[in-house]
Amino acid sequence: MTSTSALRDLPVFWLRDNCDCAECRDPRNGQKLFQITDLPADLAIGSERTVLSDGGAVHEVRWLPDGHRSRYGQDWLDAVGGRTSNDDCEGDGRTENAKQLWNAADFQDGRLPQATWQDYQREDAERLRILDAVARFGFALLSGVPTRNGQVLAVAETFGFVRETNYGRLFDVRVEDSPNNLAFTSAEITPHTDNPYRDPVPTLQLLHCLDNSAPGGDSGLVDGFAAAAQLRAEDPDAFNILTRTPVPFRFQDAHTRLRADQPLIGLDPRGRIREVRFNNRSTSTLRLSADETAAFYTAYRTFGALLLRPELRLDFRLTPGDCLVFDNVRLLHARTAFEDRGSRHLQGCYADLDALASTRAVLRYELDCAASEAASGVGATQ
Ligand code: OGA
Ligand code: ZN
Ligand code: ZN
Repeated sequence: MTSTSALRDLPVFWLRDNCDCAECRDPRNGQKLFQITDLPADLAIGSERTVLSDGGAVHEVRWLPDGHRSRYGQDWLDAVGGRTSNDDCEGDGRTENAKQLWNAADFQDGRLPQATWQDYQREDAERLRILDAVARFGFALLSGVPTRNGQVLAVAETFGFVRETNYGRLFDVRVEDSPNNLAFTSAEITPHTDNPYRDPVPTLQLLHCLDNSAPGGDSGLVDGFAAAAQLRAEDPDAFNILTRTPVPFRFQDAHTRLRADQPLIGLDPRGRIREVRFNNRSTSTLRLSADETAAFYTAYRTFGALLLRPELRLDFRLTPGDCLVFDNVRLLHARTAFEDRGSRHLQGCYADLDALASTRAVLRYELDCAASEAASGVGATQ
């Protein structure tokens, strides 16, 4: 609890920067109206008093030298009071701190986070549960999605925006005569993230199964955050090397030349795992000193071997109508080779986690409002 006197312990620029009076923030949108450099250099709290309002205690501050007045609710101070322990908080939800890391045994009874397309579309709570699963576990499976051409785009549009790339708004994963990517052959594809040669990289991927009658072609997922955390525990030197070495990823075909230089394990500014890129098909030639290169390859091979541990890999088979939605900067996906007999056809597209997080937040807010209205009887038939 921040008492009036404790207000004086707070950094003055922080406190003033958070004034939400109509002079400081546009009441129509809450956006700040001043620059940080507009505040006087000798800013200080002049006087303060605490008043009690319906919403609880409010601290009123009169600032020196400009006489500006600010009001800070005790509720707000309590809620942001943990700002010094930023390292533990979930922040924007993108780092390992906000995730439930898993290995295959966590889904041993075959119960993947999943829902039917019908329930997902019909019930907000079900939609939220599935989108929460994508945020928490990195994936979810929808079943019974109509096996129509282009339907994968409609799935992406339920929570976000399709990311168009050189592959188009959607891409067909099936055997092609002259494939510009190994995905478009019947070969095995080992665990990887897609499109590491792009910046920004697509943070979400969808794969919708239209046909899977060929023998083989089973799917696999690996939690790249869990694997990276395990590497950090088992071989901290290798972990550090992989977080610091920019790897040149490339893709090229007749119409496209893409390149991005990023580490295999990306950390946030506090050193928490935030992003994994791993794709042997598009890793290009490193040009570092001989020592750095040798050290990188040792670490790369250690991480590569760890990612292939069977206990980390969740195996399952997509059947027509299944649509897998997954975090492409956390999970690695794979498929086994398949035979020419029968046919296999997936349609995929990319989208991004920011819109998914926004949709979750809006849905949660609406469901909370509906729940409190129901509890207070508002909207009930008289
Ligand atoms: C891909 C891919 C997996 C599959 O297209 O990126 O990895 O199951 N496909 O075919
Ligand atoms: Zn103000
Ligand atoms: Zn892929």
